[in-house]
Amino acid sequence: MIEGQASGTKTAKLRYGMVGGGQGAFIGDVHRKSIAMDGKAEIVCGAFSQSYDNTLATGDALGLPKDRLYRTFDEMIRTEAKRPDRPDFLSIVTPNSTHYPAAKLALEQGFPVVCEKPLATSSRDASDLACLVRESGLLFCVTYAYSGYPVVKHIRDMIAGGEIGDIRFVNGEYPQEWLATKLEDTGQKQAAWRTDPRLAGISNCVGDIGSHIEFMAAHMTGLEIESLCARLDRFGPGRPLDDNATIMVNFKGGAKGVYWSSQIAAGHDNALRLRIYGTKGAVEWFQETPNAARVSFLDRPSGTISRGRDPMSPRARSLSRIPSGHPEGYFESFANVYSTFIAALAKKLRGEPLVPADLDFPNVGDGVRGVRYIEKCVESSAKGSIWLKMD
Ligand code: NAI
Repeated sequence: MIEGQASGTKTAKLRYGMVGGGQGAFIGDVHRKSIAMDGKAEIVCGAFSQSYDNTLATGDALGLPKDRLYRTFDEMIRTEAKRPDRPDFLSIVTPNSTHYPAAKLALEQGFPVVCEKPLATSSRDASDLACLVRESGLLFCVTYAYSGYPVVKHIRDMIAGGEIGDIRFVNGEYPQEWLATKLEDTGQKQAAWRTDPRLAGISNCVGDIGSHIEFMAAHMTGLEIESLCARLDRFGPGRPLDDNATIMVNFKGGAKGVYWSSQIAAGHDNALRLRIYGTKGAVEWFQETPNAARVSFLDRPSGTISRGRDPMSPRARSLSRIPSGHPEGYFESFANVYSTFIAALAKKLRGEPLVPADLDFPNVGDGVRGVRYIEKCVESSAKGSIWLKMD
């Protein structure tokens, strides 16, 4: 059983501002609800949309005063930086092409940042952000939020503890159906920008969901990709960017893998699945049933481990909010990434030194690696699916 989580030191709520996430947007609202889940931070300002009317309506619905709602993120960041009650951090939840300029300005103005993935649309911009983070010492989180699931942390800790032996093979897949037709031609907002290189960058499918596979495989196994060979497909007629991708990877140390991401796979919703095979056993985790994992060992029958019922690593237990059998899901995984980031930030603001365990959230280095991965996949595919070194 999990005890109720009313614990934690009593501290003032942190303040945050948001770029993107206006009414009608997808992920901004998920961020706000996930942050609100633990009550450790409250929203104080926003440039929620390129439409000022939308920003006003969004801010009004959130109970924000009009003088803290802005026409542009530039105006918001520069104005808020001068306030005595300035936000403690900023969340950036716009389409990909705005991540870099907004995050760069935020860092330059001294704000810690939580930014959506992919971190930027080029590795040059992503590396620039990493330099700014290093120079400023500011905290930076990239919301590869599937890493917030307790069972994912347990698998990571199992693998690090050698329970399935040396990793031999990683199979990652993320099939979706939603772009099986030219949804972008109907004006559907999320489809429109994802298939537009000016807003999405050089890749749609790998950038949007293939990047989750790359991060999750690295997070769960600790393996680094040494080289890859990618084939990116465009099945939607006239679509300028990929909507299906198959990528073979070689990891440093000899393990191998195959990653498949697709937005044209009929019958699939958000079917992120990782199967990891080692010399002693295997684990399988499926995002749509995130409270459980299948584990197999060579010398005993396979089984299912369940969050809350079966022994989990201390870190996994710390992220579990309710007893077994009551499903935790997407909001909780986001909330876990945020709660870790916010707790680290609060500790830093109190002047206490941070230890590695405080920083168990996806960081700017993960973001840079993700963008490099996207670039290598696009380059490999464009050159006829040749093998390329990651470095
Ligand atoms: P969306 O199109 O639903 O929302 C984007 C929002 O940003 C809209 O409100 C739009 O008006 C606003 N916006 C655009 N340009 C802006 C600007 N210059 N200033 C202020 N606001 C601006 O897009 P969605 O699906 O929410 O995706 C946003 C980002 O989140 C993308 O980078 C995407 O890759 C990422 N994402 C990440 C997920 C995850 O699991 N971590 C899941 C879904 C999206």
